[in-house]
Amino acid sequence: MAPHADETTSQSNGHLAATAPSFTPSGAEFTVDAQNVTYEDAEITSKYRYRTTKVKRVDGKFVAKPHETVYDFKTQRKVGKVGMMLVGLGGNNGTTITAGILANRRKLTWQTKQGTQEANYYGSVVMASTVKLGNDEATGEDVNIPLHSMLPMVHPNDLVIGGWDISGMDLAAAMDRAQVLEPTLKSLVGKEMANMKPLPSIYYPDFIAANQEDPNLLKAIENGHEEVSPSTVFAVACILEGAPFINGSPQNTFVPGCIELATQHNAFLGGDDFKSGQTKMKSALVDFLINAGIKLTSIASYNHLGNNDGKNLSSQRQFRSKEISKSNVVDDMVAANSVLYKPGEHPDHCVVIKYMPAVGDNKRALDEYYAEIFLGGHQTISLFNVCEDSMLASPLIIDLVLITELMTRIQWRNDGDAEWRNFHSVLSILSYMLKAPLTPPGTPVVNALAKQRSALVNIMRACVGLEPENDMTLEHKLF
Ligand SMILES: NC(=O)c1ccc[n+]([C@@H]2O[C@H](COP(=O)([O-])OP(=O)(O)OC[C@H]3O[C@@H](n4cnc5c(N)ncnc54)[C@H](O)[C@@H]3O)[C@@H](O)[C@H]2O)c1
Repeated sequence: MAPHADETTSQSNGHLAATAPSFTPSGAEFTVDAQNVTYEDAEITSKYRYRTTKVKRVDGKFVAKPHETVYDFKTQRKVGKVGMMLVGLGGNNGTTITAGILANRRKLTWQTKQGTQEANYYGSVVMASTVKLGNDEATGEDVNIPLHSMLPMVHPNDLVIGGWDISGMDLAAAMDRAQVLEPTLKSLVGKEMANMKPLPSIYYPDFIAANQEDPNLLKAIENGHEEVSPSTVFAVACILEGAPFINGSPQNTFVPGCIELATQHNAFLGGDDFKSGQTKMKSALVDFLINAGIKLTSIASYNHLGNNDGKNLSSQRQFRSKEISKSNVVDDMVAANSVLYKPGEHPDHCVVIKYMPAVGDNKRALDEYYAEIFLGGHQTISLFNVCEDSMLASPLIIDLVLITELMTRIQWRNDGDAEWRNFHSVLSILSYMLKAPLTPPGTPVVNALAKQRSALVNIMRACVGLEPENDMTLEHKLF
């Protein structure tokens, strides 16, 4: 029996509940012994000195001045019962994530060509990556802990899964249709998944995308306007319910009226588009090249895939939004290096996506990175990246849910203020998992993968009063 759930029951509406769950939150692995941190039964409170550098220009020169803002952070320790409702539950991702959670919950093992496979959460940054907590006082060695242990977080095994689909197919049949998982695993979870049916959904194939302004958005929905996409309707419903909504698809869901509405209702939004394969490589590789002082001059990206997502993306309108969300992913890294790039100068960048049914869920991503190096020399990097699409995306969905749930329990205030507040409605802390990260209006988008991870980890550290990990390791250099 999995440590986080007892027995499971299934219901016909797609909800899969853990009965009598133990809800064992993590975060018990360490405590912080410092004056700026207080542990109470209900919450962890920290006083955090956020140190930045303010820069001004004086007579054409930069003057940098250290700046400090003191914040209080408060994290509720009790993790409640958490539901994850997927729009498109019967799709490749919906069925893969459901089977994956069942397999982990029941600690399943199954046979594959390579031997016995155990359930795991590989590919989830929260569940399967670690962060350095500090150095062992006695030996000086790094002490690393799972990211999941930094703060109390829900365990994915405890998630109650549900969702909607326009197809009424049960999840066992939908899992077969997806052609993602091994037959041996499917046979172990099939019975349970056969009892799960998505809730009915809304669909109109030809909505006209438009930038709705609130309050017209609510009126437009009331009047059944075709210009509001089904995903926007789901987002608005969540906002009105006070439930966080994350958009994992490339389409334009968060029209301005929607973000405005979320801010008014203090509801959380995250988006857009899961960053699973090619874009993740891109946001790591481009960061590395440009920070190495190598002038990237072109990126040519070709993808082909054969799952239903690929079929949809081959439609011109869907492709345009994907192309846009993929092509912006290097902008911030390019703009940051004025040694390599003149203002407004960009590497050439093209993205091609083709539907190739035979390769199914095993997406192929071929990239060529062409760069200028020392004295007019060139470096060409060719990547061939075979990504099992839904196996990469499903753990990201888990991360998005876990981190978003955590953010519903964290509050902040300026030092001396009485009132606690939530983070901004638009959760840019989720950027690591998303291809076209949504940020609060007027704030910059960070695409560099390492920075996105640092933001996530260091905000979690701040909540327990710890400094950001600075990697200076002076203790190993100054003696
Ligand atoms: N690596 C990845 O798999 C990946 C990466 C980035 C983004 N995405 C996005 O994630 C989403 C899901 O991906 P997938 O591979 O599971 O796709 P999929 O096509 O296999 O599944 C989508 C499901 O949504 C259902 N659906 C369609 N319209 C609906 C509506 N109006 N209401 C409710 N359900 C509806 C379909 O019936 C289908 O079962 C897609 O938008 C995709 O673009 C996936």
